[in-house]
Amino acid sequence: MNEKTQQNNEISAINGKTLVLVGLMGAGKTSVGRRLAKHLGLRFIDADEEIEAAAGLSIEDIFEIYGEEEFRAGERRVILRILGESPCVLATGGGAFMDKEIRDAIKNNAVSVWLKADLETLLERTSRRGGRPLLKNGNPAEILEKLTKERYPVYATADITIESGNNTHEEMVGKIETALKEQLN
Ligand code: S3P
Repeated sequence: MNEKTQQNNEISAINGKTLVLVGLMGAGKTSVGRRLAKHLGLRFIDADEEIEAAAGLSIEDIFEIYGEEEFRAGERRVILRILGESPCVLATGGGAFMDKEIRDAIKNNAVSVWLKADLETLLERTSRRGGRPLLKNGNPAEILEKLTKERYPVYATADITIESGNNTHEEMVGKIETALKEQLN
């Protein structure tokens, strides 16, 4: 099978739907998503980047100037719009899947994949890149732990769960493709 045919088979494995990556900050949604999109021959979209472009402000500034509620409203608008467009791989911000309207739209229009990482990995990765307002006011380890408790039961309702363990991003892509083939064919 040539590469193009293989890609097309993989795309039909998700039935022409968008593939949405969910998970906590630092789980690797953007890095894995970018690679996965290449493998599947789909566009890659990072929801946070789209929100920043729509607002003309960084996520940090949106939180600072308008507050979290306004950020969530913008996040909902942007993600609902993207879900109505042609299929892509969409990396969502960690809070997006907690919103019922977003979650329902994902359920109805996309295939969701939870990138499940342990606390240590999340802490290590989030400490490398700032720009995450939720981790600014307090101890990041405590905040992330609280978020795992609140959010993991909801993330667990995603169609597919991929444990990241010690896997590289490339290995994660392989695991997702295997899971897609097993689950959706
Ligand atoms: C958030 C996660 C961030 C960003 C915002 C809020 C959250 O995205 O959307 O800071 O609520 O978990 P990443 O998960 O891409 O860091």
